[in-house]
Amino acid sequence: MKPRRQRSTQPGEHRPVLLREVLEVLAIQSGNVVVDCTLGFAGHSLELLKAVGPDGCLIALDLDANNLKSAEERLNPIGNLFSLHHANFAGVAQVLGELGYMGCDALLADLGVSSMQIDNPERGFSFARNGPLDMRMDPSRGRTAFEILQSLSTEELAEAFRVYGDEPEAEKIAHAITERFRTGKPPTSTRELASLISEAAPVTIQYNPLPGQPRPRQQKIRPIARVFQALRILVNRELANLQELLRVLPWILNPRGRVAIISFHSGEDRLVKRAFREGLRNGFYSQVSETPLRAGPEERYNNPRSRSAKLRWAIRATS
Ligand SMILES: C[S@@+](CC[C@H](N)C(=O)[O-])C[C@H]1O[C@@H](n2cnc3c(N)ncnc32)[C@H](O)[C@@H]1O
Repeated sequence: MKPRRQRSTQPGEHRPVLLREVLEVLAIQSGNVVVDCTLGFAGHSLELLKAVGPDGCLIALDLDANNLKSAEERLNPIGNLFSLHHANFAGVAQVLGELGYMGCDALLADLGVSSMQIDNPERGFSFARNGPLDMRMDPSRGRTAFEILQSLSTEELAEAFRVYGDEPEAEKIAHAITERFRTGKPPTSTRELASLISEAAPVTIQYNPLPGQPRPRQQKIRPIARVFQALRILVNRELANLQELLRVLPWILNPRGRVAIISFHSGEDRLVKRAFREGLRNGFYSQVSETPLRAGPEERYNNPRSRSAKLRWAIRATS
């Protein structure tokens, strides 16, 4: 029987997004010092570690300490030098300094959450699996999604849903949530929050006219997915962390060092694009990507997560 092609990632499985493009862009040479800011399941790290060879070193960070043990087991057989850290990439300069490195030759950040985090109901990232309203990438610190929902005003929540989730019904949803807290019946699980959101703003179909096309494009507006994304970004201060990484990047990349950043949300991509262009104007970078690299049809088919991925790169100037 002909084997069937798999259409989506299975629970517990993680496929590194845009792997070939990342390796091409970073052009790692034997002996390089390379940083993976977002270790996850070590999908990218595994190939980065092979590329640094016996004289190089891979330094990998993750906010989620749960990832380190399994990543170590995957990386060990390669035999090259690596060092794993339970750390926020906003503090990457400090990690490098503590290891005695002045800078690195290549750096990767594959933003967002991993499939393992989404697939674990206990982490509360997924509206498809019932779990506590947590959503912290680092479960050892910070406020949970429940605590954030409890502490913010209707206006603050609405702004977060609008800015981080592009949610058109942000006010309605924010009002429904704060009202539940006010009346003493707050949502305590992902399922309860999902049903509250869909009561406040059901899924709708939008028809967007396409230039030169007779029929408009149909688009499903899914408030639950947008609000969950916004909450996750808020809980983990994702944009602030990215901004800090972008700020220190020119100082930690060695001359001609390369950086690749994969983002999954328009807000993140805008920050990366702006920082790289500004760095090019200021002379920090000698070259930056004009347009983001996207997954090809085969990767999009085999790994749905890759559909929204955008990869931007930059090369540090020589001085
Ligand atoms: C998309 S996954 C990375 C997957 C990885 N590239 C792979 O192929 O296995 C993103 C990972 O980055 C981690 N992460 C997100 N924000 C972070 C931050 N500010 N600092 C360190 N790690 C972070 C998450 O915990 C998650 O494990």
